[in-house]
Amino acid sequence: MRDTIIFREAIPGDAQNVLKHLQRIASETGFMTMGAEGPSKTIEAEYKEIEAILESDKTFLLVALDKEEIIGMAEIHGKDQPKLNHIGDISISIAQEYWGLRLGTTMMEKLIEWAKGPSSNLKRLELTVQARNERARRLYEKMGFELEAIMPRGVKDNGVYLDVCLMSMMIGEI
Ligand SMILES: CC(C)(COP(=O)(O)OP(=O)(O)OC[C@H]1O[C@@H](n2cnc3c(N)ncnc32)[C@H](O)[C@@H]1OP(=O)(O)O)[C@@H](O)C(=O)NCCC(=O)NCCS
Repeated sequence: MRDTIIFREAIPGDAQNVLKHLQRIASETGFMTMGAEGPSKTIEAEYKEIEAILESDKTFLLVALDKEEIIGMAEIHGKDQPKLNHIGDISISIAQEYWGLRLGTTMMEKLIEWAKGPSSNLKRLELTVQARNERARRLYEKMGFELEAIMPRGVKDNGVYLDVCLMSMMIGEI
């Protein structure tokens, strides 16, 4: 299955497919901040967002496709404020059927490669992950992310308060 997967930067024409993937992930796992309600965005809004991402030197959106279907997404989302625009937030989601095939590893490698490359001025990558999400935490540790803090009650899932880990990786010299 893994051999048929294609990785590429998202294009505006992916908008509908992106929203479909996010809706799927939202109902498959409680590990995302987005709940089962899914993404509350229109296809037009998503289209414009991807257009803006393509122009941005702070944000990078990667998709993994199995034939025509998006089955994975990984993003570095840069901040606009001048005092924070060296920081990129990471998020990643892969459809459950495709977990454990090292797609997460490949996508994280590609994000980090972009962050270290000439198109980016990022100096710090950060992410939050539920403490109970062992698979994701191991992936991030393997990529070189370090635990900075554990935030008690960092998220509430079905009325249960959960610990959330803040992890980071520094990029290049300052
Ligand atoms: C977390 C996620 C991105 C990982 O992607 P993946 O393609 O399944 O991960 P990989 O196959 O590349 O495995 C990455 C590492 O996870 C660890 N891992 C794999 N299976 C595991 C398991 N059953 N339990 C714990 N850790 C596991 C391993 O360390 C593995 O690296 P290794 O094979 O080199 O040892 C994916 O499972 C996912 O999208 N989950 C749902 C959404 C989510 O949790 N996103 C992150 C929110 S912060």
